[in-house]
Parts: sequence; structure tokens; C-alpha cells
Amino acid sequence: MTTISFTVNGRSAEVAARGDTPLLDVLRNHLGLTGTRFGCGVEQCGACMVLVDGVPRKSCGTSLSTVAGKCVMTIEGLGTPSNPHPLQQAFIEMQAGQCGYCLSGILISAKALLDRNPAPTRADIVATLDGNICRCGTHHRILRAVACAAMRMRGQERA
Ligand code: FES
Ligand code: FES
Repeated sequence: MTTISFTVNGRSAEVAARGDTPLLDVLRNHLGLTGTRFGCGVEQCGACMVLVDGVPRKSCGTSLSTVAGKCVMTIEGLGTPSNPHPLQQAFIEMQAGQCGYCLSGILISAKALLDRNPAPTRADIVATLDGNICRCGTHHRILRAVACAAMRMRGQERA
């Protein structure tokens, strides 16, 4: 057992746990941030995606000790119901989800893409989301929603 300090969604966090505890467990069970989903648990589905210092990481395969001193962002840090991120707004408008289980991971992956590439091609979006599985098959709407959010964030209207 050790105590690890890091930042989550702009707030300081201090967690006493084994250093090899998966970050996903820490977020959900120690910090109550249940927006990050447990899907496969073996780094195959992307449901648990978070940003660590701005880089997408599957939190089921990221140990607590590796985020010491780093900045973690979860879906709870992306937007709020009253002030959604443009990605969230576009997903809502385009009904880009069915059960919604995959969406927090997909939104986090999409945010990382738009942060580094504000004008992604469809191929860029597809490649980025390749590691995020949606069992409901809403991929086409998801791709459209990400493209729409990117255009709006660039100050352009949706085509
Ligand atoms: S739960 Fe982490 S990749 Fe599936
Ligand atoms: S909306 Fe159900 S898994 Fe993606």
C-alpha cells in the first residue's frame, strides 16, 4: 500500500492503494468517478479511456503508480449537462448512441483527436476510434457527430 497524488479533472487527488491497482478501479471505486466504464478489463474495448497528461490511455491497463504527479481527465471533466462540450452536444443532437455504454470512452478519444487535429478527415476519425468498440453499431452517427463537433469548434457550420 502506498499513497499516490495526482490531479483528476483539475482537482488534487490522493489515493492510498497498491501501486499496481488499475487506474480504472481507483477512479470508479476510490474516487466515485463512475463515468469511466469497465468493459473488457483487458485493454480491448476502449470503454475505460481517459486522458493522462492529454494522451488517451485505457485505464484498465494503467496502474495507479504510473499516474503519480500527472493530470488525469475523465468524462466528468469534459462538460456538464448545462454546459456540454461541443462533442457531447453533437452526440446528443445526432443521437449518436443507443445504450451509451461506450460513449464516455469514445468522447475521450475524440477529444484527444480534436485537441491535436482540429480538422480531422473521416479517415482520421475512423483511425482514432478504431480502439473503441460500440456493440450497438452506431458507428456512422458517431463519425458524423465527431466531424460536426470539429466543424463547430473551428467556427464553421455543419455541412
Ligand atoms: S475496459 Fe479497458 S479497454 Fe476494455
Ligand atoms: S451505444 Fe451501446 S455500445 Fe455503443
